[in-house]
Amino acid sequence: AMDWIFALMAGYALGSVPFGIILTRIAGAGDLRTIGSGNIGATNVLRTGRKGLAAATLLLDLAKGLVAVVLADAIWPGLGVYGALGAVIGHCYPVWLKFRGGKGVATLAGVCFGLAWPVGLVYAVLWIGVLAISRISSLGGMSAAIGAPLAAFAFGLPIEAVALTILAALVVFKHRENIARLRNGTEPRIGGKG
Ligand code: G3P
Repeated sequence: AMDWIFALMAGYALGSVPFGIILTRIAGAGDLRTIGSGNIGATNVLRTGRKGLAAATLLLDLAKGLVAVVLADAIWPGLGVYGALGAVIGHCYPVWLKFRGGKGVATLAGVCFGLAWPVGLVYAVLWIGVLAISRISSLGGMSAAIGAPLAAFAFGLPIEAVALTILAALVVFKHRENIARLRNGTEPRIGGKG
């Protein structure tokens, strides 16, 4: 009956592994916290100039979200959504970084693919599409995050839609500095001088 707490905690444990910080440190590419936006995600790793490192961060932050859902559902059938909630909360508020974590975009992508691949597909299309058009990482990520619960609802997955609504709200909340920059036109573009 209390299994959902274990699924949530397992998801949190996986989600709270800060791959951006770990890879950047191992590679000797500096302290991510003092670079660009100071965020721990792949977009900010890219600002170190290390494309491979940024790609690895993106893949690993995505993978931990996917694994959190698949693992939780394997151990506690039907409770994958709690693994999903735990993973993104863990990435955004990792105890290891005094709860100052990332913005959840890559981890939420993995979570969506883990919950239902068509939702993952919608997420990926929105993320890549808006990023390709705008060249603004935060705009692509927030668009995908907001689209995910709508897609889940449209595909007849109400429980997933509720979990994804909570996570979309969290992702948008974590982007409040980006939103302020978008509003005053100072949000940097990928490949630009940001
Ligand atoms: O995934 C985070 C991205 O949406 C924004 O990152 O470093 O531009 O704040 P950043």
